Parts: sequence; C-alpha cells; structure tokens
Amino acid sequence: MTAYIPDIKNPEAMYTVYIERFDPEKDEKPYLKRYTVPFVQTMTVMEALEYLWDQGEYIAFRANCREFTCGSCAMLINGKPRLACDTLFENNMRLEPLSRYARIKDLVVDTNEVKEKLKALRYWPESKNRKQTYRVTQDALDKFHRIYSRCIECYCCLEACPASSSERSGFDGPMHLLQIARAATHPLDTLDRTRQASEHGIWSCVSCFECAGVCPMELSPGTVIAELRKRAVKEMILRFIGVGKEK
Ligand code: FES
Repeated sequence: MTAYIPDIKNPEAMYTVYIERFDPEKDEKPYLKRYTVPFVQTMTVMEALEYLWDQGEYIAFRANCREFTCGSCAMLINGKPRLACDTLFENNMRLEPLSRYARIKDLVVDTNEVKEKLKALRYWPESKNRKQTYRVTQDALDKFHRIYSRCIECYCCLEACPASSSERSGFDGPMHLLQIARAATHPLDTLDRTRQASEHGIWSCVSCFECAGVCPMELSPGTVIAELRKRAVKEMILRFIGVGKEK
C-alpha cells in the first residue's frame, strides 16, 4: 500500500494521531497508541493511515474506493462516525473502530450481521409479475428513489442512532428503513413495504435526526422515516374506509 500524498517529503507540520489498536491474538484489551504523521494540505485520515502503513505500522483498516462511494472506511473519528477517506486529517485526532460490532482487528469490525439483516429485507425492487422485466430507464425512476439510492451503507447512521442501540427496541436502524423506502419508491416494486417498515421499527425512531448529522451523502434518514410513517397512516385510513387495495 502506498499513500498518494505528493508532497509528503515537504510537510507543513508534524501531526499527532491516537489510534485504538487491538489484535485479538496478542492483546488482552484495546489500547490507544500515539503516532506522528507529516501533514500536508488536503491530507485525509485515510492518507495518514496509509502513510503509517508505509512506515511499517500495520494498522488494520478498511479501504476500497477512496472516493466516498463504497462506505467501507467508516470509523469513529474524534468520537463521531465518519468516512476516513472523506475526512481531512487534523492534529490530535483520535481514531477508533465503530462501537456496535465485534472487533476483528484494530479499526476493522465485523458487520456481517447487519449485511445479513439488510439482505433479509429484500430491498431490491421486487415485482410480483416476473414477466415485467422491461428495463426501467433513469427517467422513469421516482426522484425520491434516486435520492435514497445515494446511501452507501457505511453504517454511520446506525452508529449515531440512539433508538437502534438497544437490542430490545426492535428498531434495526435508519439505514434499513432508508433501504426499504428506496425499494418502495421503485416503479416495479410490489412488496408491501409499509408493512415491512412497520415490522422493522418505523414507529421506534425518536426523530432526533442524529442520522442526518453524520450521513456522508447528506441524506436525512429521519425525514425518510417520517415519509414512511405518513404513507403508513394514509394506507391505514384508506383501508379503514374501504378503498385501500393490496399493492
Ligand atoms: S474507501 Fe470507499 S467510502 Fe471510503
């Protein structure tokens, strides 16, 4: 791995960074370790980590696209869930792994459980009519579907959400409901997404909008959840007065 930092030989300053290390094969518990990184303008947290890797500090972290599209590099940066590739490096930063998942090593956590839960939602457009396989052009897509499709599944909103932190809340979290809304707004989708949203905690959201504050794509899952609630209430009323029909 080589950090792409053109001016690293002429740094503007030496910055300190504290990184939580943990190797389950060697360490009894996590510990904070201090490192020094030569800082150059526009350097990101990911580039600082790559620099350290180049120096033989093999700190485990996830990286893939490096341009905020894959969502894999989310971690706690100064206590907030953020993308390492989308955060400018600053002096005295503290880097830790996301806190709600089992740690694999250093900054890498095991998110398989969330991925499995997401898959179980069948959050891709699901059509009852299998013959209806015509291609949906971009023009035909609902504008909300396009917006919701920007979610990169980085888990930042899950980390920030106070309502999904308790196992007893029954609320999988904002990202799951955003994905349900994404499927619901696809023109070919015919699953009962309102029922699905209810089963996955639509009424448990506390509307604090912490999710919107940490979303690197500037989405507002809290607003999407409010829309899902409106849709649920509307469908309930229509059913009650007998004009509702199964999707
Ligand atoms: S590496 Fe893909 S979002 Fe950061």
